[in-house]
Amino acid sequence: MKDFFNAIRHFFEQQFTSSSEGAYDINHLFLQYLILAAVIFAIVAFMVIAGALKYHSKKRQEVPKQVSGHKTLEITWTVLPLIAVTVFFFLTLKVMKKINRPFKKDQKPDIEIIAHQFWWDMRYPKYGIITANELHIPAGEKLLMRIQSADVIHSWWVPDLGRKTDAVPGHINHSWIDADKPGVYKGTCSEYCGAEHAWMRIKVVAQTREDFDKWVEHQKQIPPAPTDSVAREGAKMFQSMTCANCHAIAGTPANAHIGPDLTHVGSRTTILSGMLTNNLENMKRWLTNPQKVKEGAHMPNFMLTKDQVNALSTYLEELK
Ligand code: CUA
Repeated sequence: MKDFFNAIRHFFEQQFTSSSEGAYDINHLFLQYLILAAVIFAIVAFMVIAGALKYHSKKRQEVPKQVSGHKTLEITWTVLPLIAVTVFFFLTLKVMKKINRPFKKDQKPDIEIIAHQFWWDMRYPKYGIITANELHIPAGEKLLMRIQSADVIHSWWVPDLGRKTDAVPGHINHSWIDADKPGVYKGTCSEYCGAEHAWMRIKVVAQTREDFDKWVEHQKQIPPAPTDSVAREGAKMFQSMTCANCHAIAGTPANAHIGPDLTHVGSRTTILSGMLTNNLENMKRWLTNPQKVKEGAHMPNFMLTKDQVNALSTYLEELK
């Protein structure tokens, strides 16, 4: 019997992994709800099955005893749910209070998240760096996130690291994020926001303080100008075509923030918000016909020739 319960516990622990205090509290509360629901389900199922067997028409022809206005019964089925709802109301309130840690009104956020159709703009105002879709955080530290939207309603959710937070146009939400150990934590947009809602993935890379500081230092640097002729051609194209109207690359005149910041795009592990692995081949696929790869994304098809795609992709992949 003990083994049985241990197996069940192990199963649930695997389903509700948590790597932050907030996520642990939420998962624990969910488990409590689940147990209560399971008990109620078992009672109802038992009564339905037992009733069906006992009063099966082939067994007994007479109508069972009819009950109306049974005081004890009515009080029981009113008071028991009331107790359950009240207990869970306060349990939920306790968790909500715990995970929504207070912050000062004028407190600057550590991270600014701006949700777009269909990618995440991620900024570190304290370090002056901007990235996209892959958030780096130092493990073991609680960071304040400021979450907003540039277009429609999205929702930030990395299940292992805490609660969902909606990104609502014209409204700012705050949320805390922390990871108790280094690792990669996956999340996704969890509010339907359009054609590519499914491809608004989030990757959180929790690192030791030392590694995180190294990453920040690297992100702060302006990438060196390309040296080989193909990439140089790509860099020229980037500035002369309309790329710079939407994208930014530090150290160049391109400074728009409608699309993802591409300063260190080559150093990310994925492109298109987790849709494709970041490599030269996939970058070429994307630039050849964006709408064929991610239909509905706001990246137009520039009808580039094969050589142009090659030059531009080579340049972007070298932006490490
Ligand atoms: Cu953004 Cu769903």
